[in-house]
Amino acid sequence: MIQDSRKLIRINTDYLLAEERTIDFDIYTKAPNSPKPILLVAANSIIADIKEVLARKNYGPLFINQESAKKFENFMEDSLNSIIRNATIPLEQKSSVVHACAKNIIRDVFDDPRSGKNIARAKTITGNIIDLTLENTQSILHLLRLGSHNYYTFSHCVNVAVFAIGLWLRIRKNDHTELNDFALGCILHDVGKSQIMDNILQKPGKLDHDEFEVIKKHPGQGHRLMANHASEITLDVIMHHHEKINGTGYPDGLTGNQISDNAKIATIADVYDALTTNRPYAGARQPLSALTLMKKEMVGHFEQKRFEEFILFLGGRPA
Ligand SMILES: [Fe+2]
Ligand SMILES: [Fe+2]
Repeated sequence: MIQDSRKLIRINTDYLLAEERTIDFDIYTKAPNSPKPILLVAANSIIADIKEVLARKNYGPLFINQESAKKFENFMEDSLNSIIRNATIPLEQKSSVVHACAKNIIRDVFDDPRSGKNIARAKTITGNIIDLTLENTQSILHLLRLGSHNYYTFSHCVNVAVFAIGLWLRIRKNDHTELNDFALGCILHDVGKSQIMDNILQKPGKLDHDEFEVIKKHPGQGHRLMANHASEITLDVIMHHHEKINGTGYPDGLTGNQISDNAKIATIADVYDALTTNRPYAGARQPLSALTLMKKEMVGHFEQKRFEEFILFLGGRPA
């Protein structure tokens, strides 16, 4: 069966190796020197059979059609637990699946932030990221490497959660009691932006006063959206990730000890990720340049001790 190649999406076969399941989407390949895709494996095939087909010949890139994208995403998400627990799958591959699923889930949360099902998926993926990180802290590096250099809200949310989990574990060591709720707050920290028009979010230049006032509402909007679904710890991170210890942050203008440890950690991760990716109004900085700017031009924004821990964490120094 020949497919229209314009409607095909390339897939990573790593995602198919998880377990003995049946796929519910067709997989295509392309013959060398031909742009025309050919059906390689039909829906309802068993993974073991697919592996056999792939083992016989090196087929190069594989594709699914656009209409199957959602099915493929669900397939990946359903396989996550067994992928993470499977000792034979390399860490890099596990990180890649977790990262891809996390971005899809956060995209769905932003599309429909009132869906309890989407929020439950966000909780599960946050737990998956933590499990992977606790299994091997190297996975943090893999997960961060997969983040986009360009600013995309979904990628940013995942990156902030990964940076923040790393810093949290460095500071709190083996105390994991609040970690899941904290990390959920980090991955959902900007969910209030789902309520803000794109012409403000994507504005290439500096925001005017009124536009900034709109942006400043996103922590409160996020808090409202998640109020019935999340714990106080999660809601605190969503509400206070733009507070600064000198009191000049928003929405509440909290100072020093009024800001929770969790919110302080999330703030550092948030600013660093924003500075190191290309945004509509500013280019990406190199890590050292971002840290220098945070140290010299953002005096009073972060707590010094935690900021220093963050630098050590980025440098891979043992805690
Ligand atoms: Fe934010
Ligand atoms: Fe953010």
